[in-house]
Amino acid sequence: MATPKKIEVIAAHPYPIWLDVGLEDLGQHLESVLRPGTSVLVVSQPQIAELYYQRLADGFKAYSIHLAVFPNREEEKSLARLQELTAEAVAAGLDRDGLIVALGGGVVGDLAGFLAATYMRGVRFLQVPTTLLAQVDSSIGGKVAVNHPAGKNLLGAFYPPIAVWTDFTTLDTLPWEEIQNGLAETVKHAVLGDVGLFEFLEEHAEGIKGREGGIWREMIRRSIAVKVRIVSEDEKEKGQRALLNLGHSFGHALESVLGYTGITHGQGVSIGTVAACHIAQRKGYLKNQEMQRIQNMLQVFGLPAHISGADSEELLLKMQADKKNKEGKKVIILPVNIGRAAESRDCSDDELREAWQEVLV
Ligand SMILES: NC(=O)c1ccc[n+]([C@@H]2O[C@H](COP(=O)([O-])OP(=O)(O)OC[C@H]3O[C@@H](n4cnc5c(N)ncnc54)[C@H](O)[C@@H]3O)[C@@H](O)[C@H]2O)c1
Repeated sequence: MATPKKIEVIAAHPYPIWLDVGLEDLGQHLESVLRPGTSVLVVSQPQIAELYYQRLADGFKAYSIHLAVFPNREEEKSLARLQELTAEAVAAGLDRDGLIVALGGGVVGDLAGFLAATYMRGVRFLQVPTTLLAQVDSSIGGKVAVNHPAGKNLLGAFYPPIAVWTDFTTLDTLPWEEIQNGLAETVKHAVLGDVGLFEFLEEHAEGIKGREGGIWREMIRRSIAVKVRIVSEDEKEKGQRALLNLGHSFGHALESVLGYTGITHGQGVSIGTVAACHIAQRKGYLKNQEMQRIQNMLQVFGLPAHISGADSEELLLKMQADKKNKEGKKVIILPVNIGRAAESRDCSDDELREAWQEVLV
């Protein structure tokens, strides 16, 4: 069977994820939905725009295309930057029939998406993800947001794009550390939802690290498929979708306690996944050997299982404030075996403390 070039997200507003397509072909692809002359605002960051904007713009000659860039920092995912971009959208003549395109990683996608959700009460939005994390994770599922001093992604919306346009070649310029952030999410997808993907990662780890064409593409396609399946079953995170938080309750607490310095998101997710494995093993869900395989997989991609410099009591306290908690109970996602995970609301503080102690050195 030929590899499909498109995966459909089934939701209230379904949308396609186009795979292995070229940036320069997007404009022509949109001919059936965009009238000639439509205003298109591409939101990006300087380095990404320098690398890829021209390729994208070459295909948009029939439209009135504008570029708005903002500095390359997570802190820019803010209301202040949203206001600046709003002014640029007005100056570009973007009207209700316009289109906002996010050309970049998750920061660009979240911010541009929130702009699209709010500008004139909503204009069309399209994601062109250029990091591995954005391709396998953040561009899929319709979550858009900005940060607030009181919390990360505190202001947000479910605002699905009209499409996701995934050009794998944009990853050629992505530094290894950023690749690792995406690999952490891919291992997570495999652990929570696709044992076949996990075996693929084990079998082709070297090819993946070497970014070998066919293997690389297959890994991304299969990782995307896990996320698509889950968000299609539960668009608004009423149930199933919470499974995607595997490793994240621990990881977010760690990132936050460390002040988002000295640890990448991928490292946080990796350590968090290991911590969740420890609890799952103690509860008798996960076999010793499965836990070892998960830890090995993360290690092969250079992702850590341990960290120093944080205090388990402080981390526990941070987990109490997690916005994903429900009815005062901590919601923790635990792997049941490789390929399946479940939500748990009965992890005691002692169990969480012990799990932290396993990963803290
Ligand atoms: N909406 C969601 O469902 C969701 C899910 C997960 C994460 N997120 C959000 O995603 C953000 C993290 O996204 P990210 O990991 O993509 O980080 P990012 O957007 O900060 O990008 C990482 C770095 O890579 C650079 N970059 C991007 N593409 C490049 C390329 N092709 N070549 C060279 N450099 C490139 C960026 O400029 C940046 O410096 C966070 O804000 C997080 O909250 C959102």
